[in-house]
Amino acid sequence: MNQKIYFNGEIVPREEALVDIEDRGYQFADGVYEVIAVYQGKPFKLMEHLERLAFSAAELEISCPGINQLQHETESYLASLNQTEEDISIYIQLTRGACPRTHAYPDDLDPVLIMKAGSLELRPDEYYQNGVKIITRPDERWSKCYIKSIALLPNVMAKKAAKRARAYEAVMHRDGFVTEGSSSNLFLVEGDSLLTPPASNYILNGITRQTVIQEIGPKLSLEVREQSISLDRLFRAEEVFLTGTTTEIMPVVRIDEREVGQGRVGELTGRILTAYRELTRA
Ligand code: PDD
Repeated sequence: MNQKIYFNGEIVPREEALVDIEDRGYQFADGVYEVIAVYQGKPFKLMEHLERLAFSAAELEISCPGINQLQHETESYLASLNQTEEDISIYIQLTRGACPRTHAYPDDLDPVLIMKAGSLELRPDEYYQNGVKIITRPDERWSKCYIKSIALLPNVMAKKAAKRARAYEAVMHRDGFVTEGSSSNLFLVEGDSLLTPPASNYILNGITRQTVIQEIGPKLSLEVREQSISLDRLFRAEEVFLTGTTTEIMPVVRIDEREVGQGRVGELTGRILTAYRELTRA
């Protein structure tokens, strides 16, 4: 994989992308990020991701280049990689910048914008064919989960717990209601309808989630309802799937020790996955 890094306006070899040890991202997780999938050279939902980056930055008062500038920088970086055959991902991170360590941030810092390309680590085919197991966990995060912040410790701990349980993902719950996975959103199927928790401050409003709600649902004539989902209701669902940039549409066949539906990939989930693949590879 190409180790060219975009670093504050320049494209440099990785060894030259040096971050100050007093960067607030390093000391306080004071920054925001995006992960964008690039299918055969074409970034999927680029503007949506960049708009969310700018939105997350604004919520934290981190100064951020304008959308047009962000688009230009991302496209120039992508062009420099000359990677049109293989599917890749771009990690974009914006931190508030460096200053002597102090909690309250100074207002005049120079933010640090980096982009790093990586392989698009999609999950093995068998996960999509056979479905995966997930576990449930209390949601231990703060109440501004709609910000895509690099402060991810609860997510990291939840994902590790899932790994230990040989599960794909940990789906979190607050006050008896499901929020989302540690790095994905959740949907369930009831009859001909799709249900997903509403976009509140307790979830990240995933771009893949929005694609299912706004494009794939209508295309397949499925009603999509944004509704609070109790854990009980999740356990009774006919089909369950996760969505995310690197997760795509992941069928879930087991939750903790219970089977979902017949314990096989659901029919609607399969159709949604196919529709998503058509959209991303179009
Ligand atoms: N995570 N919820 C959380 C907490 C996430 O971290 C992510 C994505 C999603 C799905 O969002 P989207 O559909 O926009 O990718 C939902 C990225 C992929 C990551 O942290 O690697």
